[in-house]
Amino acid sequence: MLKGKHIILGVTGSIAAYKSAVLCRLLVGAGADVKVIMTPLAKQFITPLTMATLSKHPILVEFFNPENGEWNSHVSLGEWADLYLIAPATANTMAKMATGVADNLLLTTYLSARCPVAIAPAMDLDMYAHVATQRNMAQLREDGVHIIEPASGELASGLVGKGRMAEPQDIVKAVEALFGEKKKSLEGKRYLVTAGATIEAIDPVRYISNHSSGKMGYAIAEALAERGAEVTLVSGRTALDVPVGVERVDVLSAEEMHKACVERFAQMDGAVMCAAVADYTPSVVADEKLKKSDDDMSIALKRTKDIAAALGAQKGHRVLVGFAMETQNERENAQSKLERKNFDFIVLNSLRKEGAGFRGDTNIVTLIDKAGAEELPLMSKREVAERIVDKIEKI
Ligand code: C5P
Repeated sequence: MLKGKHIILGVTGSIAAYKSAVLCRLLVGAGADVKVIMTPLAKQFITPLTMATLSKHPILVEFFNPENGEWNSHVSLGEWADLYLIAPATANTMAKMATGVADNLLLTTYLSARCPVAIAPAMDLDMYAHVATQRNMAQLREDGVHIIEPASGELASGLVGKGRMAEPQDIVKAVEALFGEKKKSLEGKRYLVTAGATIEAIDPVRYISNHSSGKMGYAIAEALAERGAEVTLVSGRTALDVPVGVERVDVLSAEEMHKACVERFAQMDGAVMCAAVADYTPSVVADEKLKKSDDDMSIALKRTKDIAAALGAQKGHRVLVGFAMETQNERENAQSKLERKNFDFIVLNSLRKEGAGFRGDTNIVTLIDKAGAEELPLMSKREVAERIVDKIEKI
């Protein structure tokens, strides 16, 4: 799919620059013609020799070659490229891009590029979460830059969190999607997806939760994004990576998930409520770890807010999809939820069937709307996601 594509690979000064070598090799292996621009600092992290050998082109760092004065024209580079991919993109480079600073070849080329631009941010979790970085990323998104979201995981600092550059294979997938012929039927649409289990604290140590892995919701977010939608994934704690092109908002409790969803729903074209939200939460969260005694104990619980119903009440023309996981009177319960929460359709999971439900990679579902029910056979969660998105598209 990348055969004959001209790609400029911009490398900035981050530890993740070591992954740029693999990325370059994968892009070249997929048939792309890759020219590499490095910032002066990037050379401290990975050698130009490595990048030049892998890309089969000399590396560009300076505005001109200091030995013979030959001009490295950022204008013609920008015209040559079908895609400008900056990976890793540091907080510093993103800030400069967002404000139009042009103090190195990588940045002047950005300002001259007529092609699509994609960046794969890489930095420490606090830098990534900082309001300034988030503001710059929002600006870049508005300027039309495609952001290949960083993953969560162990960072070079030893800390664990979001900020790790997406893996080279995932960046290549994102690049292919950018060039892809895949129908971008949901271009310009915005969707909210909830996924995973919520966590309700009892005390600083214990909590109430459930077995949801988040896999179904993540597959839906990925399927929506692949069709060109802008997707915000409000996610409970999971071990899953953020799908390419999806913005993830991490939450723990039902209350936090409610807030994150209600705040965003007005700007959305639709929402898929896939999270397994706690129905009850401890009435009081103990400040200190509860001590055991010889007696039995009970914990008073209060109802949580129903997020789906709250969105259903302000639905308007938006598409709203819910899930139901039932162990008895499946159809009737799902049907009543469909009406009560104002869903366009509801996806019924049965816990009784082999291959369906929590944690696994497959599911057996029935799609129910006011007109009737469509039973789907055993499928991968990814295929189920495609069928759900097909139905959203029709609506
Ligand atoms: O009522 P029940 O929990 O079975 O409804 C399931 C549907 O409602 C799912 O789509 C789930 O994500 C959503 N839900 C919610 N907020 C809650 C409870 C459920 O969004 N507090």
